[in-house]
Amino acid sequence: MNNSYKTYVWSFLGRISHWLLVISLFSCFITSFYEEMLTLHISIGIVVFGMLLMKIVWGVIGPKYARWSDFEFALKDLKYYFIEKIKNRYRTIQPGHNPASSWFAFLVTWFGIFCCISGFLLYGIQEGNGIFSFLNEDYISKSALIDSIHIFLSYLLLVMIFAHVSGVLIEQFYHKTNMVMAMVSGYKKAKGEDITTTYRMKLLGSLYIILVLLVALYAYFVPENSFTKSKFKEISYKELNYDFYFECSDCHNLFPPFLLPATSWLELMNNQNNHFEEDLELDKSLVKKINSYLVENSADKSTKESAYYLRKEINDSKSYTITKTKYWKEIHKEIPKEVFENDIVEKKSNCVACHKGFEQGIIFDNNITYPPKVTKK
Ligand code: HEC
Ligand code: HEC
Repeated sequence: MNNSYKTYVWSFLGRISHWLLVISLFSCFITSFYEEMLTLHISIGIVVFGMLLMKIVWGVIGPKYARWSDFEFALKDLKYYFIEKIKNRYRTIQPGHNPASSWFAFLVTWFGIFCCISGFLLYGIQEGNGIFSFLNEDYISKSALIDSIHIFLSYLLLVMIFAHVSGVLIEQFYHKTNMVMAMVSGYKKAKGEDITTTYRMKLLGSLYIILVLLVALYAYFVPENSFTKSKFKEISYKELNYDFYFECSDCHNLFPPFLLPATSWLELMNNQNNHFEEDLELDKSLVKKINSYLVENSADKSTKESAYYLRKEINDSKSYTITKTKYWKEIHKEIPKEVFENDIVEKKSNCVACHKGFEQGIIFDNNITYPPKVTKK
């Protein structure tokens, strides 16, 4: 039995960063299911990223068992580790990372880092937000690919975490090594040399953790900050083109021109005397003016996410009913039909009921009011 041994292996800061990683990773998974929580998701992602980076640096400047040089990566040791684990229930465990946990920590750190980076890239490229928003224009066509990579990595992490937790529970209840408590108290039931944390490690480590938390709070709470700022501004169509605003926002909310490709707008305007059974009665010169504004600001000219996908789907088909597109239907498929018919929303085309700032060209995840609260204009 190994029960009498006790070694101090995980420093206070190492444990803090481990549990911060656990909490932030878990919160990232939860928030990923809610579009309107995107800013929170990103802010928490900063904590995940910060703690993973800390793991790498701590593995160089931190105390003994946290150091990469103390890890065991030899494959024959890994094999031996599992043989020993199966053969000998009450084997002596080692103070630092065993071959399995060495591999786990290494892989989870790097997959996690790539997952965070893909997330920040996606946020910049697809949404036009944050530090990578400058890539939106050139790489919007790659957003679906990056999205898949991000999702793949996050599920891979989930599977790895599941394996890790199972491993710890097997240690805890089968091998009786009280492994869970090691990450709480810092002591492992193993024979070895206690770690010492130097003043320098404590200072650098705690300042770093505080800095990461401050950056995350800043990203979440401070408006217009560089971590979450959108490259797309509110647009006052009323000021930019009064004719378009005046003629097109009478019966329904104003549809921002970037939602449809130029060919669709022209088709809609061509059919202005039979516009969903209404006659818009616009004279020629007005049609011309509105046409040129719509064409100039159509989806063909925009790198907004919605513009990109709508243009891609509609292509040259000239259709102009946004709510009939597969893209629109797919995004809104989870909203019950009744919601679109209730007194607040009234009809599908009343986008502004759920999308705050819709008529100023803002259709972002974090601007969604759902269930809808804003009354119809
Ligand atoms: C006389 C009323 C009226 C005016 C003015 C009007 N529309 Fe419409 N529009 C409708 C109706 C009715 C619908 C059908 C959907 C609905 O009930 O909102 C519609 C639907 C649309 C849709 C499709 C919405 C969807 O469901 O995807 C677009 C796009 C649109 N209008 C653009 C315009 C533009 C651009 C103008 C200005 C040139 C304009 N409308 C002016 C009555 C109007
Ligand atoms: C009843 C409320 C409601 C109405 C009305 C509504 N939406 Fe939405 N919309 C949502 C919700 C909720 C989401 C987020 C769905 C999700 O991804 O889970 C969303 C997402 C979107 C997105 C994706 C946003 C992004 O950044 O990923 C676009 C684009 C969009 N809506 C456009 C429209 C347009 C255009 C209209 C009007 C023709 C409209 N919506 C009407 C509730 C609504």
